[in-house]
Order: sequence, then C-alpha cells, then structure tokens
Amino acid sequence: MTDLTVLGVETSCDETAAAVVRLSGDGIVTVLSSVVGLQTERHAPFGGVVPEIAARAHVETIDAVVAEAMDRAGTGWEGLSGVAATAGPGLIGGVMVGLSFGKAVALARGLPLVAVNHLEGHAVSARLAARIEYPFLLLLVSGGHCQLLRVDGIGACTRLGSTIDDAAGEAFDKIAKSMGLPYPGGPALERLAAGGSPEGFDLPRALLGRPGCDFSFSGLKTAAARLAAETPEARRADLAAAVQAAIARQLAERTRRAMLACAADLPPGGRRFVVAGGVAANGAVRRALQDLAAELGWSFDAPPLAYCTDNAAMIALAGAERLALGLTDPLSAEARPRWPL
Ligand code: KG4
Ligand code: ZN
Repeated sequence: MTDLTVLGVETSCDETAAAVVRLSGDGIVTVLSSVVGLQTERHAPFGGVVPEIAARAHVETIDAVVAEAMDRAGTGWEGLSGVAATAGPGLIGGVMVGLSFGKAVALARGLPLVAVNHLEGHAVSARLAARIEYPFLLLLVSGGHCQLLRVDGIGACTRLGSTIDDAAGEAFDKIAKSMGLPYPGGPALERLAAGGSPEGFDLPRALLGRPGCDFSFSGLKTAAARLAAETPEARRADLAAAVQAAIARQLAERTRRAMLACAADLPPGGRRFVVAGGVAANGAVRRALQDLAAELGWSFDAPPLAYCTDNAAMIALAGAERLALGLTDPLSAEARPRWPL
C-alpha cells in the first residue's frame, strides 16, 4: 500500500474542524494538521447547542478552518489522496455543510470522497496517537453516544451494548445544568468535583448486576436534580464528586461485563481496551477504566484529550483506512441524522 494523505472535515455538532492525516504504507499514522473551531460562545447563552446556530456557524467558518488545516499541513492540494467528511450521525444541518464542502473539494480537485460515520471516527481516534491493532473493545462515551463496541476493523464493528436513555456526556451536561453550572457541563462538573468528596449521597445504581452491557443514566439525572435543589452551597462540590463517581462506576461496571464476555475468544495478549469520546477526557472516568483494565489483564488506551472530543483528524484517519480498502463514496452520498454503526 502506498502512503495516503487525506483531508478530513467534521461538522456534525458544534465544532467546525478540518485536519490532514497521513497513513503510511506500513501503517504509521501522522497528523499533519488538526484545526478545531469552537462555537461555544455562540451556544453558551442558550445552555446547550442550538442546531440552527451551529449550522450557520459552520457555513461561515468552514472555508477558513479548511484553509488553515491545508496551510499547516503543507502538502498542497496536489498532495492529497482523498477527502473524508462526516456524513452522520449528528445535527443534520451541520452534517450537510461539511459533507457538501467535502464533495465540492472532491469534485474540484478530482479526489475520491469518503463519507465517514462520526462514530467510526471516534472508534479509530486512539490510533491517531498509538499503534493499536484490531480487534479491540471500545467504550465510546460522548455527548450523543454511549456504547460498547467490539471493533474488528474498519467497517467491522459489533455493538455489545448502548444506552437505553441518555448518553453519559448528556447526563454530565444535564446534571451540571441542574446544578447551575455553565455550559458545557461535563468539564465544569469535573472542575467542581475536584474540590469535593463523593461520600454521603444516595444515588441510584442503574442496571447494577443486570445482564448485558447496556447503560442507563436517567434515574441518576432525576436523583441528582432533586439533590441539587436541596443541597447547601457548602456541599455542592461533594455532590458533583458523587455524581461523577456514579457515572464512572456505571461505565466501569458495564465495561467489566463486556470484557468478561469478549475475553473467551481473545488470547491474553490480545485483550485491548480503548475508551474514546468527549467523556474520556474525564479523569475519574479514565481512572476507573484504567483500574478495571489492569485488574482484568487488558491493555488500556485513551486518545490524547484533543482527539477525545470532536475533531477532524479522526475523520481523516477513518477516511484513509477506508480508502486503503478501496471504500469510497459517490458524490450523491447522503447526510444521515441517524446512522448506527
Ligand atoms: O465527543 P464529544 O466532543 O461530542 C459528541 O460527539 O458528543 O463529547 C462531548 C461531551 C459533552 O457531553 C461534554 O460535557 C463531555 O463530552 N465532556 C466531559 C468532559 N469533557 C467533555 N464530561 C465529563 N468530564 C469532562 N472533563
Ligand atoms: Zn463525537
């Protein structure tokens, strides 16, 4: 296989992102540039992402973000082997902006287009910074998704479990909001929790001991909202720490089940675990999963923080891996609000 250099474009939520990634013939991954334009300030007054504001902001900024990514990469357009754009799942207005932009570049430059599933991007994100072989067990925890997947390769993911209500990041965000914390809630809640101690709160332990690998956070959300209303200011940090510990505990408990289920057909040296998505940025979550992996004899990997949250480098890499397999898409590729792996 020859080297593949791919421009990635990501616009499925509120980050306008572009990146250039090179996948060498011997599988070495190099991120030549990764630019993420945040829209946080535009959404903060509304306490969450407003889809139409996000789509409009993507239209306004995508040109500059892509130009900067190309500039920093220094490959020139002629140095590209293909263009990869997120085609879903996500906020459809935003997805359409990035996908259309990717199509325009592909058409104008005569490059192959790869329409990438955003979740597949998260699935390969840890491979941007470390050499992680397939297969691996993936916990994908973001604002929109909470799933356990067995990843056997590109286009070969098996879902072992997913949330039956809210995603873990959504739970962080909603609970943070009910505690009066600013958007985005996850990082704000982690900062508050840093000064607290988790003992003394009675929080529900959803699905504990239940078979399967599904998740549920709505009970925790309701209980936390009630506690937030009756907890004195002096104990808010403790409540934040208790909520964070409860989310980390559930993620680890369900991952334990997935590890036990997968271990049978994997050799001891081939038990690899990866956590990805925005919530993987949370220290308590990482520690709980790291301890679990160590206990059960699995390797542990998490992408660097910049690749945990939404970015285009992961889309470019998924695109390059697809391109290497000859998997490209026509310029009629559709934008999909829902697109399970
Ligand atoms: O992957 P991501 O950037 O976007 C989605 O595809 O959803 O994840 C964003 C989510 C948000 O819910 C955010 O609150 C959460 O990840 N998050 C965190 C932290 N950093 C981001 N949650 C807890 N602790 C953090 N440090
Ligand atoms: Zn994401």
